[in-house]
Amino acid sequence: MTKSLKSLVSLALVFALVLVAVPTGAFAAKPPADKTLDNLMAAFNGESNAHARYLAFAEKADEEGYGKAASLFRAAARAEEIHAGNHARVIKAMGGTPKATIETPGVKTTAENLQAAIDGESYERDTMYPKFLAAARLERNADAIETFNYAKTAEAEHARLYQEALDNLDSMKGAGVTYYVCAVCGFTTTNLDFAKCVSCFSPKEKYEAVA
Ligand SMILES: [Fe+2]
Ligand SMILES: [Fe+2]
Repeated sequence: MTKSLKSLVSLALVFALVLVAVPTGAFAAKPPADKTLDNLMAAFNGESNAHARYLAFAEKADEEGYGKAASLFRAAARAEEIHAGNHARVIKAMGGTPKATIETPGVKTTAENLQAAIDGESYERDTMYPKFLAAARLERNADAIETFNYAKTAEAEHARLYQEALDNLDSMKGAGVTYYVCAVCGFTTTNLDFAKCVSCFSPKEKYEAVA
């Protein structure tokens, strides 16, 4: 065989290998394996910290005379606690141990705290939970999909409520207001004008009042 024929043959072999390897997925990105337990742990830590942070923000809002903002922070804090509890249940069922490292919340003015809360909720709604949901779907983990979905829907509503509060900060002054939080999924609202939770379809009786 001539030298040029030899190199032609080896080139053909390489092409043949590629043709075999590509359809079998040898070069495809590997799906994340067992990412969901790590994601649940990260979400548990995040929700536990959000709970602590919002309670600190509520205290500051009361100090500054924004009673309604304080109520909103307390209601959202309760919702994050429910999310943390839901995540913890799934972690335990998977054989893990939920652990959180609570950082000292950076408390600023209520306007700044509302902005920080909007940023945190938006990140969870747009980036963190969609990523965690995609991995849980690949791993077909129905319990994780449910708890991530509950949290994502509630965080979207929190972001909206916080934005509304920041846009109308003067109207957040004065006495507190009652919010209602679904004990199953953490959905947060001021308006109980429904029979079943709009997010998890639990009966309205599952809602807790937080002021
Ligand atoms: Fe939230
Ligand atoms: Fe719910």
